[in-house]
Amino acid sequence: MKFLQFSFFALLLVISACNNPKELNIYSARHYDTDQDLYADFTAETGIKINLIEGGSDELIERIKSEGINSPADILVTVDAGRIWRAEENGILASVESEVLEERIPSALRHPDGLWFGISKRIRGMVVNPEKVEDPSTLTYEDLASEEWNGRVCIRSSNNIYNQSLVASLVETIGAEATEEWAKGLVENMARNPQGGDRDQIRAVAAGVCDVAVVNHYYFAMMLQGNDEDDKAIAESLQFVFPNQGENGRGAHVNISVVGVLENAPNRDAAVKFVEYMTNEKAQEYLTVGNNEYPINDNANINSTLESFGSYKSDAVNVSALGRNNPEAIRIMDRAGWQ
Ligand code: FE2
Repeated sequence: MKFLQFSFFALLLVISACNNPKELNIYSARHYDTDQDLYADFTAETGIKINLIEGGSDELIERIKSEGINSPADILVTVDAGRIWRAEENGILASVESEVLEERIPSALRHPDGLWFGISKRIRGMVVNPEKVEDPSTLTYEDLASEEWNGRVCIRSSNNIYNQSLVASLVETIGAEATEEWAKGLVENMARNPQGGDRDQIRAVAAGVCDVAVVNHYYFAMMLQGNDEDDKAIAESLQFVFPNQGENGRGAHVNISVVGVLENAPNRDAAVKFVEYMTNEKAQEYLTVGNNEYPINDNANINSTLESFGSYKSDAVNVSALGRNNPEAIRIMDRAGWQ
């Protein structure tokens, strides 16, 4: 009997080993070639095969919800804390506790209960025409609402999550009332009705439509690196600015690329391993050197384009505030008439 029991357990062990499929299903709203290299490297390192489903962030969240308990999704990858917040609100993320992650990721860049983790930083800063702006290094977000900037500002529409998160960060730091005043001033100062993406705002500065544009840093970096000769020449004539630096400045607004393990993940162990992998120095360099994002792991290198931007101070806002304040940010933008 004892022998039978023993062999029964041995058999169970064998079955569970065979059941470990060594696979990981990633639903990603990031569409970068460097991410493919990153996934290939993860597989080479761990033997865990990655199946990738790509889509828009909201579309993937809906899909995971409708797949419910049978969802094959282990990991959700997206950009912007405002977007991962929607996943959080929908209850599809699982809490992860990991010393590795707590050590490598500053607490402001991950969810307090481990529902999601920032894997890289993106700065929503400004691009100026240095010939038309006297001392760009002193620029603040607040300045853009002041009279001095009347008719000189380019920024994309209010339905863009990057802008919503910027406004949410202002709600957090200067309060809702001051943010609404600011938004009204900004709308008054716009050189044109919001149109196009961040790169279009940069092009508009070079074309003399405006003197300053609010943009994520990596768009300017990509233009400088120059797959497109015209864009390269444009970027070379302009300057990237980290706002709110000065001695008493609170620092530039930081957002994240972000991953979360899903509540119904069939391969949870592999999923946690993947999140940890994303924060190691090698993986970080795919994101920073290859994709112009800033590392969350300070030991990782950055590329020469980012080096050329110089060092900067970040605001201390915990990025989870960007989601929490998102509905209020949208209402403020609406009331300010930000199209
Ligand atoms: Fe982007």
